[in-house]
Amino acid sequence: PSRSTKDILLNAEKGGYAVGAFNVYNLEGVEAVISAAEAENSPAILQVHPGALKHGGVPLVACCISAAEQARVPITVHFDHGNSKVEVLEALELGFDSVMADGSHLPFEENVSYTKFLTCLARAKEMLVEAELGRLSGTEDDLTVEDYEARLTDVKQAQEFIDKTGINALAVCIGNVHGKYPSSGPNLRLDLLKELRALTLDRGVHLVLHGASGLPSDLVKECIALGVRKFNVNTEVRSAYLDALQKPHKDLVHLMASAEEAMKAVIAEKMHLFGSAGKA
Ligand code: G3H
Ligand code: 13P
Ligand code: ZN
Ligand code: NA
Repeated sequence: PSRSTKDILLNAEKGGYAVGAFNVYNLEGVEAVISAAEAENSPAILQVHPGALKHGGVPLVACCISAAEQARVPITVHFDHGNSKVEVLEALELGFDSVMADGSHLPFEENVSYTKFLTCLARAKEMLVEAELGRLSGTEDDLTVEDYEARLTDVKQAQEFIDKTGINALAVCIGNVHGKYPSSGPNLRLDLLKELRALTLDRGVHLVLHGASGLPSDLVKECIALGVRKFNVNTEVRSAYLDALQKPHKDLVHLMASAEEAMKAVIAEKMHLFGSAGKA
């Protein structure tokens, strides 16, 4: 299949389901995503974070691209959390199929111009650009109510942002966090998600939810019903990998194979939860 993140998300929109974007770090991670996708007949997105790219470089990207090319189901390779022009331009050179222009750390106007620069570049390549508005918190951030509210995606700003930048996908901050959720559980503002959906649907922009690890199934299903089409998953897959490494192993190949199996099981379960299983 041809590698287009736009097509993958367009099909998800038509079918009313979501697709998992799984962070990968090495061959075992890539194999885990591809083998789960093929076993579940699901599309999927292989996602590389700048930290992982810094370590794995060209061989990691080449591994992702060749695995995606040979897969029997639609797989694309996405650059996650591109924080600077230099980083994203390098990613484009390396052959990523789509990118996240993450200017969420910048003041609004600077986020607009940063993101717009990249959407203009990407347009010629028919490539999907995802951007973020609001600030995603980490588990460790102990926020006051005011700080929590201030970090949420603002609907009016989102409208201006989308109209000015021409992005294809918007990562929203509705109380989702990278890493684990507090023991009290996630506090997602589904009312806000609903408003953002009305806005983005009109404009042909897909909704993305980062921090999908740790979200209970019923909440994931509600988010899909409210229009989320891409879920980013990192922590749960990485934990499965790290747990597998702790177990005794006959030899290195056995260790790598069981780590891969452990990741594959988590990924396959997400594909069912997201509704992408059977949709390739
Ligand atoms: O954007 C996500 C990064 O890959 C970090 O994710 O919260 O699992 O460390 P993490
Ligand atoms: P989690 O680590 O919570 O799954 O978040 C992943 C993510 O958003 C990657 O961009
Ligand atoms: Zn993220
Ligand atoms: Na999370």
